[in-house]
Amino acid sequence: MIDFRNVTKTFGNDIIALNEVSFQVEPGEFLFITGPSGAGKTTVGRLLIREFAPTSGEITVGEYDLAKLTGRDIPFYRRQVGFVFQDFKLLPDRTVAENIELSLEILDKTSEEIREKVARVLELVNLSGKDNLFPSQLSGGEVQRTVIARAVAAEPPLIFADEPTGNLDAETGWQITELLEKINQRGTTVIMATHNQGIIGAAKKRVIKLEGGRVVVDTKEEKQEALRQSSGQARIKNQEKFEKEGEKEREENSEGDDREKKHEKEHKGKHHQKKKAVEVEKVE
Ligand SMILES: Nc1ncnc2c1ncn2[C@@H]1O[C@H](COP(=O)(O)OP(=O)(O)OP(=O)(O)O)[C@@H](O)[C@H]1O
Ligand SMILES: [Mg+2]
Repeated sequence: MIDFRNVTKTFGNDIIALNEVSFQVEPGEFLFITGPSGAGKTTVGRLLIREFAPTSGEITVGEYDLAKLTGRDIPFYRRQVGFVFQDFKLLPDRTVAENIELSLEILDKTSEEIREKVARVLELVNLSGKDNLFPSQLSGGEVQRTVIARAVAAEPPLIFADEPTGNLDAETGWQITELLEKINQRGTTVIMATHNQGIIGAAKKRVIKLEGGRVVVDTKEEKQEALRQSSGQARIKNQEKFEKEGEKEREENSEGDDREKKHEKEHKGKHHQKKKAVEVEKVE
């Protein structure tokens, strides 16, 4: 779904927001991006919505190679990504329902379809009945849920939520995370940027940690490496077991002279070493 290959983003001459960042995200994954303030989390999101292009490196999202998008393609591409902004960005003079409707108007929908969709998405985020309130009349958690409703209303395959629990109390932060998990279970790929170690620890999802614009941890890579090692070891063990059993069987069956046996053993030893070398090569 997402492929970042050696992505570097600099601002001006000396600010390196991202430095040779590479990672892949499969469709339907839930992924945390964490790291200290200034590490580059929001920059990943802004690259994903093609707010700007990388200074170097390549990004593909679904079938879109972001470097090849022309100005005309960008609005179409952006429908692929629901962005939950760190600083909310709801229009203060529009109601909850109107804020969500605005994200649907670019789609080819009748007003009846739009009304239905807004009602459904408000139900999803548990805000039915608040559709006619203005942002200033909502609690922080409700504002955040409205922002999420707006991001998912057009059913984009990918959601990037930038610190969606940032200004909320712990309980409300959990509810927002659970809401994003629910959206993920419906098939949407979700990337959540957050500092909140409590949520990251409890959610047991993949984590990419950035520091100074570099990936310093990717739990998926770690897991794959561990899997590779354990399956590699298991394969070598099986191979050894198989060969030992074969050897025993042959010894039991053979009544031939010692010379022949010796030759057979030497041959087997060589064969065994060769096979093992092939196995190890495959694992690496
Ligand atoms: N438009 C810009 N112009 C100049 N520098 C920028 C710009 N946008 C981001 N930066 C710099 O890039 C670096 C990464 O910023 P980014 O917003 O991605 O960090 P972050 O990990 O999201 O931090 P936070 O946790 O505080 O939100 C920072 O040093 C920031 O000052
Ligand atoms: Mg940020």
